[in-house]
Amino acid sequence: MTKIFPVTKDAIAQAAAILDGGGLVAFPTETVYGLGADAQSDAAVAGIFAAKGRPQNNPLIVHVTDWKMAERYAETDDKTNARAKLLAAHFWPGPLSLVLKRRKNCALSPQVSAGLDSVALRAPAHPAAQELIAALGRGIAAPSANISGSLSPTAPLHVEKSLGRAVDMILAGGRCAVGLESTVLDLCGDVPTVLRAGFILPEALADTLGEEVRTAYDFAEESGSGAVLSPGQLLRHYAPATPLRLQAVDVTEGEALLAFGSTRFMGLRGKGNVPKEDIFNLSENGDLAEAAANLFAMLHEADQKGYKGIAVMDIPRGGIGAAINDRLTRAARAQKT
Ligand code: TXA
Ligand code: MG
Repeated sequence: MTKIFPVTKDAIAQAAAILDGGGLVAFPTETVYGLGADAQSDAAVAGIFAAKGRPQNNPLIVHVTDWKMAERYAETDDKTNARAKLLAAHFWPGPLSLVLKRRKNCALSPQVSAGLDSVALRAPAHPAAQELIAALGRGIAAPSANISGSLSPTAPLHVEKSLGRAVDMILAGGRCAVGLESTVLDLCGDVPTVLRAGFILPEALADTLGEEVRTAYDFAEESGSGAVLSPGQLLRHYAPATPLRLQAVDVTEGEALLAFGSTRFMGLRGKGNVPKEDIFNLSENGDLAEAAANLFAMLHEADQKGYKGIAVMDIPRGGIGAAINDRLTRAARAQKT
């Protein structure tokens, strides 16, 4: 029996009832599909960890409709809160998760925070996600709807393939417009710190806040200093089964080409042109936002076609290119370990 339901009023009501009863519902957001559970239920949240095979020390993002709902869960009236309010007013609903101190005795399951005293909150922009949270009337804990460590899902079929058996329902709301997971910003320390690169850039956050914003994902990953800021960032991530070869300048026999911009100068080693059907072009026009939206979908597609490898062209690091390169680097690195 198919569990995929297009978004309708009835489907949203049914999905909310499943969540209310402790079940798991995959739902669309503008970034990637989320695997949702009632964030206030220990048993439901435990179900997410079990379904994904997610390490217990990796906390979840709690999805809320707006800042008002966020205030139920986050500590209020301090400096952190002033910053968060400003950012929420500017970027919510949207692809920004804010790590804030948990409100004492708040109703969230402790497991969403994996034992930390903070919680990541986000108001997603996809209308179906908004309606679902509103229908449940409380926060929905939702990591990306894929088996831990594998490619993130940006279409309903990606979810079905990865978690079809584990979810009670998949709400189908088309392909994700952004295509990369949200920017995660930690507001618990003195200096606001980006823990995960995403569509919303550090520069935009700094502009809105009128203060310095640090980026910590490289630091946490490379330094080996034990400064584990965003636990999930240290884990195996985003890896397709097919080996990735980054910054490729040509293609070898049996490889697919994950391209960006013109492929005029890319050749099949010793053979001339790369066969058209082996080229997956993230954006022929060299548009980084389009490339981000296509990244996981094209990796999913190439991954299924039995190539011996995927050669990836160099992608500029500016703007959202930072987040794209972050995902590709993690994917390639994960395969080597
Ligand atoms: O776009 C997104 O964020 C998607 C959609 C479904 O909203 N969700 C998502 O969730 O990507 P997930 O679980 O795949 O990634 C959550 C990231 C992890 O790196 C996790 O470690 C970090 O957020 N995180 C969550 N709570 C945290 C906390 N309290 N402190 C530090 N990092 C936290
Ligand atoms: Mg994920």
